[in-house]
Amino acid sequence: MANPAASTISPARRDTPDLPWWKTTVIYQIYPRSFKDSNGDGIGDLRGIISKLNYFVYLGVETLWLSPFFTSPQADFGYDISDYKDVDPIFGTMEDFRELVKQCKLRGLRILLDFVCNHTSDRHEWFQKSLRKQGKYKDYYVWTDGKVLPDALFSYHQVSVFGGSAWEWCEERQQFYYHAFLAEQPDLNFRNPDVVEEMSLVMKYWLDLGVDGFRMDAVANLFESEDIFQDNPPSGKDVPPVSHWEYLKPVHNFYVLPECRDLLVHWQNVLDKEKQIDGKERFMVQEFYTDSDTRAAMAEYGAHAFNMDLVEELTVPLSATQMMGLIAKEYTDRPESYWPTFVVGNHDKARPATKYGPRYVDAFNMLLMTLKGTPTIYYGDELGMQDSSVAYEEAQDPFGIKIGPERYALFGRDPCRTPMQWTSETQAGFTTSRKPWLPVGKDHEQRNVQSQKKDEKSHLNLLKEYVALRSKDAFKYGDIGLDCVLNKNVLAFLRFFGSERYLVAINFGQESSTDDHRGGPVAVATGTVVANTGAVSDDLAKGRTIDLSSLTLRPGDGLVIQL
Ligand code: GLC
Repeated sequence: MANPAASTISPARRDTPDLPWWKTTVIYQIYPRSFKDSNGDGIGDLRGIISKLNYFVYLGVETLWLSPFFTSPQADFGYDISDYKDVDPIFGTMEDFRELVKQCKLRGLRILLDFVCNHTSDRHEWFQKSLRKQGKYKDYYVWTDGKVLPDALFSYHQVSVFGGSAWEWCEERQQFYYHAFLAEQPDLNFRNPDVVEEMSLVMKYWLDLGVDGFRMDAVANLFESEDIFQDNPPSGKDVPPVSHWEYLKPVHNFYVLPECRDLLVHWQNVLDKEKQIDGKERFMVQEFYTDSDTRAAMAEYGAHAFNMDLVEELTVPLSATQMMGLIAKEYTDRPESYWPTFVVGNHDKARPATKYGPRYVDAFNMLLMTLKGTPTIYYGDELGMQDSSVAYEEAQDPFGIKIGPERYALFGRDPCRTPMQWTSETQAGFTTSRKPWLPVGKDHEQRNVQSQKKDEKSHLNLLKEYVALRSKDAFKYGDIGLDCVLNKNVLAFLRFFGSERYLVAINFGQESSTDDHRGGPVAVATGTVVANTGAVSDDLAKGRTIDLSSLTLRPGDGLVIQL
């Protein structure tokens, strides 16, 4: 029988799909140490975050990913947890956390926690018991005897991500233990079902407190080959032997399958079980620096990994062709369960404003918010915050310190973790302390939330506009058309749903480019600018009708054009 309502619906109109919230959200990463300090000790905390929640309402982002705030000796600034079920006093209390959840819910905000699953702190009770071989804790970590080492260099045949041997001698137990990161971060032994259960309970604990999901830390490191005595072969890469992770090809301790897969599926089941109870969808996203094909293979078993291509793979100076090559893969021959999750910056890597240059700040933010998929933005990138220079003598980051003064500038992670710049005040409105844990950026007097809020064309307000676009059907539900203009400077793509169509065209190159955008799926001659990057000329202002046969974009210029 014909649907009586159908005749009132225009033929171009399609029913909007019922997508899970994590497919239509924007994720904002908060590094709690650096976001907002409420008690004047120079380190950000949960109360500080609570005091800034209206900022997210202003921006229009709904999901907050909080880097770790759990009890920790802070050897790796919280990525070394000594109690998974409590808040470190530096960051506050469980009461503060409950208040955070409550205040988030009042504002319609969601929370993702960092789930540091690969390793604990060496001060964790489990490790302390394990080194004494106490009861079930004996095999909670990856232990091995020194005496069967094949040669004196054995301990270097598996290199830690932070450099140096991945094996540490434990005097008390008279055995080596494995650590993919710092010696203070011993790897859990996930071949032990008790460990799997223990960590699933941690997950459950936070879900019961109202969180919406997890960012899964370092999942590729979860397993080591069962036969732990196999050496990793040299990678052939031109990096200093032994002291650098990339010196060896980590075939025996990186994304070991099928074990990794099974564990991620298990954790996804923990989330799904919760849904069966209360009907609420949860989200789990993996931290995994890998390629699109591996992400696609992961999607087959239901795991979503952050796409780090725009963080890690781009050559500088930028090439739009290279970028589009990486982007296009996300939409070509992917399994149905695949969902792109773009990232441009995070707490481990140089800030995009520094790495790619300040002129591309809006361009990247526009790209991130208009591509099909779920974007994650790192705190401060909405302001175009730069990496701050931190002298090696003042370095805080253990990885940076370990790697030494010559290479600190290349690998140190302090510069991208400096305090959020709220105001032009002495400590950028981040803290009342005279000594924040890292120095505030030198440009905070000009670059801060307060001043950018007042400027319609600031990075902040432009990002807010790009985020707002995502409520339109074409960006929220729509597909992406890639067969548009592409050359070394300009990339363009179409977002469409029903009769709604938008062309996004951005110049990431070094030169101006004048292109005819009428071809391919665009197939019209004009359109209206609905969003742009801050420095475009007046003829590309919002509301202008654009002649698509000859559109000139200068480096860093980007437009969203309604067709
Ligand atoms: C992840 C985190 C990084 C941390 C490491 C060890 O890569 O992003 O900050 O140092 O795991 O936990």
